[in-house]
Amino acid sequence: MERTYLMVKPDGVQRGLIGEIVARFERKGLKLIGAKLMQVSLERAERHYAEHKGKDFYENLLRFITSGPVFAMVWEGDQAVAHCRALIGKTNSLEAAPGTIRSDFAVHTNFNLIHGADSLDNAEREIAIFFSEDELVSYDRAIQAWI
Ligand code: TYD
Ligand code: MG
Repeated sequence: MERTYLMVKPDGVQRGLIGEIVARFERKGLKLIGAKLMQVSLERAERHYAEHKGKDFYENLLRFITSGPVFAMVWEGDQAVAHCRALIGKTNSLEAAPGTIRSDFAVHTNFNLIHGADSLDNAEREIAIFFSEDELVSYDRAIQAWI
């Protein structure tokens, strides 16, 4: 069982796509164990995107992710990291497979609606940046037995 970190970015919140996006992971059979609408501080944004420091899009990325509220989430499930990345689609909306969130709703690489951790290590690191352990819940879903 894995945990992963997802975040509807400011464009997704502004466009009213939180529900649409959350529904896709629920239907897939993953379990939501933490969620909150929050304003990302510059300090958190820098920690979250540390791997991109120095790249040409880095400053714009920080400005964008701190520009308005995001919907931060932790999801749990078998191979949750890879399954979520598959539902999200490739970074560039033109390369994202039809049916993925980025293909269905995004036309820009920078305004691509959602972040998903790309490895188990990053998932753990990112969850710790955005959530404290007492904000995550543990519960059974009846449907889980069928997935
Ligand atoms: P990255 O981690 O490569 O993509 P992903 O979100 O699919 O894991 O990049 C982080 C974000 O940086 C990406 O979602 C959008 C932005 N970005 C750009 O604006 N321009 C770029 O050329 C790249 C690669 C990313
Ligand atoms: Mg990434």
